[in-house]
Amino acid sequence: PRTFRIAPSILSADFARLGEEVRNVIDAGADWIHFDVMDNHYVPNLTFGPMVCQALRKHSVKADGTKVPIDVHLMVQPVDALATAFAKSGADIVTFHPDASTHVDRTLQLIKAEGIQAGLVFNPAAPIDVLEWVIDKVDVVLLMSVNPGFGGQSFIDSTLRKAEKVRKLIDAHHRETGRDIRLEIDGGVKVDNIRRIADAGADTFVAGSAIFGQPSYKDVIDAMRAELAR
Ligand code: DX5
Ligand code: ZN
Repeated sequence: PRTFRIAPSILSADFARLGEEVRNVIDAGADWIHFDVMDNHYVPNLTFGPMVCQALRKHSVKADGTKVPIDVHLMVQPVDALATAFAKSGADIVTFHPDASTHVDRTLQLIKAEGIQAGLVFNPAAPIDVLEWVIDKVDVVLLMSVNPGFGGQSFIDSTLRKAEKVRKLIDAHHRETGRDIRLEIDGGVKVDNIRRIADAGADTFVAGSAIFGQPSYKDVIDAMRAELAR
């Protein structure tokens, strides 16, 4: 059976209290912390860099001391220098958009050489063919279900068909090699659509506004898990 992960995006958190927000959402049951890096070039918005990641890493732990992985989603161009900088600043997973990297295989190798997990991100209209050639170096496939740049947008339904396709590739790769690859969905994920998204093959769910827009993060995460359990 698939193990589900919920990855709150701190893009929708209160930036004036980020450390506290990370701790609160972990206390509420977050499995990963999703960290959206935007550069005002690849996407029309600007967020935070490696120094903020470095500052948050000590907050990204559960009450019992277990580390909660920091999932860095790079929406930047060029990719390589920042991918390495984030790896050295406490990122546990770094994902990037293949169309933002000139040499996708090299970027994956750079990230893996840092001893962390690497992943590719596909925009709603982006083809996924590149996966065929680099799947052995990929730990996470992240499918965007909104156009990147902003929280609070609505889920694009064609992502479900794309997820079904990627699930088949991941399962075939698992049968051949025994390697596990996570299938993560990002954008417009809510309590009322998470079950449908899981049915399409996803196992990891980014949610920003759905969680941080509510007074009780725990109520939302519990409700998401209840949907996933049914
Ligand atoms: C968008 C980001 C998402 C975003 C999701 O570019 O990659 O992670 O924060 O936010 P919601 O869940 O509000 O769509
Ligand atoms: Zn993201």
